Amino acid sequence: MKHVVLIGMMGCGKTTCGNLLGARLGLPVADTDACVVAQEGQSIPDLFATRGEAYFRTCEGRVAAELAARQEAAVIACGGGLPLREEAFAPLRERGVVFFLNRDPGEIYDRVSMQGRPLAQDGRRAFLALFAQREAAYRRCAHHVITQFSSPEATVAEILQHLPGGG
Ligand code: S3P
Repeated sequence: MKHVVLIGMMGCGKTTCGNLLGARLGLPVADTDACVVAQEGQSIPDLFATRGEAYFRTCEGRVAAELAARQEAAVIACGGGLPLREEAFAPLRERGVVFFLNRDPGEIYDRVSMQGRPLAQDGRRAFLALFAQREAAYRRCAHHVITQFSSPEATVAEILQHLPGGG
């Protein structure tokens, strides 16, 4: 089985849905942000502040390659910026089925805490603009675009419909 890879904007529910999905499929779950934090021993805001975004992106790319190369299939929740760099995302796309969680960015911003997300500190309008900049790349990377966000269960149910034996 291939990896199940979740992409989309910060706060769209990749980690929450990834955990639920892992439980439903009996697969291990990995989160690229959590792997970077564990490897570097620093939180994401601290990494951005002390080493800069470019350093974070290097770490994130390394983690993506490591996770993609794992033999055992896993559910992999990706940091929101990872799919924007084609070379960093390529190993995950090659070895996974990629789902874009296309939740409305205004709804995300209004409902989800942006604490601990350095690139979401400039207000609602900037958040919407960032999504507009990224949406085409998310669509390009995805095998499937997910549209159900009334609850994490509803999102997971839609993802499962696209997986063998999951519907
Ligand atoms: C980022 C998203 C974050 C984290 C970092 C940068 C982005 O992950 O990787 O703050 O560029 O969208 P989440 O999508 O899990 O918030």
